[in-house]
Amino acid sequence: MFKCIFKDQNIYKCLLNGAWVESKSGKREKIFSPVDGSLVGEVQSMTKEEVDNFVSSAKRAQKDWANKTLNERADIIHRAADILDREKEVIAEILVKEIAKNKKSSLSEVARTVDFMHFTAEEGKRVVGESIASDSFPGFGKKKISIVNRVPLGVVLAISPFNYPVNLSASKIAPALVAGNSVVFKPPTQGAISGLYLAQVFCEAGVPAGVLNAITGQGREIGDYLVGHPGINMIAFTGSSKVGMHISKVAGMIPLLLELGGKDAAIVLEDADIESTAKEIVSGAFSYSGQRCTAVKRVLVIDKVADKLISAILPLINKLKVGNPTNDCDITPLISNEAADYVQELIEDAINKNAKLLVGNKRQNNLVYPTLFDNVTVDMRLAWEEPFGPVLPIMRVKDENEAIKIANDSEYGLQSSIFTSDIDKAFEISAQLEVGTVQVNSKTERGPDHFPFIGVKSSGMGTQGIRYSIEAMSRSKATVINLK
Ligand code: NAP
Ligand code: G3P
Repeated sequence: MFKCIFKDQNIYKCLLNGAWVESKSGKREKIFSPVDGSLVGEVQSMTKEEVDNFVSSAKRAQKDWANKTLNERADIIHRAADILDREKEVIAEILVKEIAKNKKSSLSEVARTVDFMHFTAEEGKRVVGESIASDSFPGFGKKKISIVNRVPLGVVLAISPFNYPVNLSASKIAPALVAGNSVVFKPPTQGAISGLYLAQVFCEAGVPAGVLNAITGQGREIGDYLVGHPGINMIAFTGSSKVGMHISKVAGMIPLLLELGGKDAAIVLEDADIESTAKEIVSGAFSYSGQRCTAVKRVLVIDKVADKLISAILPLINKLKVGNPTNDCDITPLISNEAADYVQELIEDAINKNAKLLVGNKRQNNLVYPTLFDNVTVDMRLAWEEPFGPVLPIMRVKDENEAIKIANDSEYGLQSSIFTSDIDKAFEISAQLEVGTVQVNSKTERGPDHFPFIGVKSSGMGTQGIRYSIEAMSRSKATVINLK
């Protein structure tokens, strides 16, 4: 079990310079469970003045950390992964309570993060430099050799979202650390306790004091000060497009890695395998109640096969278990009532504009039942906005060109799926889609985590994915040897 990071059973502290500390303001944020409103715990509401301590501590610690060998840094990350694996049940229980993710998915998030961290530890050893001779360029003969290494950026600010508070925090912290950076980690407030457990894991694994500092507090209160802080050398952010765009305006001239919102389209052609397509779409649209950036958030189906597809999708939706995450239900309460209100707004707008409700439009507080609409048209908000909830619009199109146009007219550009039996056609359409990734005959999804994960337009900037993140959190450093 963890060394105590609580003042008493449910007050959590922040990690500063190797110690667990409370805010001097005495202010704390109560974290209530979206499942039943019960108190999960209280986290510190650190003030702007206290932010300085977290950043300066990270800055002080970074040089010695970077001077450790890659093997030493990688060994600590392997050890952290082993400790995370040891604590998987405890942390999964917290995820269930804190973000209403069902137990199976919570355990899966932790297990995936263990794999992520082991892979990152090894990949860090393979992100190396190169040497370049001068004679490949006119006029310099063989007199110069450039020795190019990768060096850390300094202090990385890691900010993560509520829907993967363990995995999407480690997906920043681990690459940053293996590259030799120190990290100021700001978890989502709803997910902060899960995030602090992760910080404790790294701490116990031997990450030196100050190399990882974990600060809690409302993003709207300390976010700008953190993002604009002169001691921050790089920001890795995952969250909404609204906040991501705001960060891009506040941050100084530093590298940003932004993974933002999405409105992933599943394009279904006439020759698609309808049964397997339906399974992929339902899983893609309704896992974790649709609270995934890569969720399937619209279906663009050739009209001729739309009825067949809907007939295959409906029974699968009706099989989804709705309720409490401790009962391993598929559809569980959304993260907040406000989130459910927003989903309800999109549902009502679609109904008011004559979309055909096939199932759903049922709600108990922040529990929204899986909802499917047919005949959604481009005048409806649901066609364009990201619900981050269990609601799926079917948009009928006459041909693939109309599907490509609607897909590309979105402000988002995270992923798309194409369902077809014709691989040439899939590549032809993929080349026209303005997204980071196109999945062929599969739901949209981020994993496996060594794949590049890219968002364009309002879906982000830069490339996540283990090697890509390590590269984004380091830079080239050239030393040129001049021969006599
Ligand atoms: P969010 O509201 O944008 O919050 C994300 C993180 O940013 C949280 O830690 C939040 O802290 C912090 N934050 C808020 N305002 C900030 C500011 N002014 N400066 C710095 N940080 C600030 O997103 P969310 O509700 O957690 O997640 C849902 C959204 O994230 C959806 O749009 C989803 O599509 C997107 N998302 C994208 C990906 C991806 O990989 N592309 C993955 C997951 C989620 P607080 O919690 O204290 O507000
Ligand atoms: O919303 C989280 C985003 O990173 C998607 O991850 O693995 O559910 O596709 P995944």
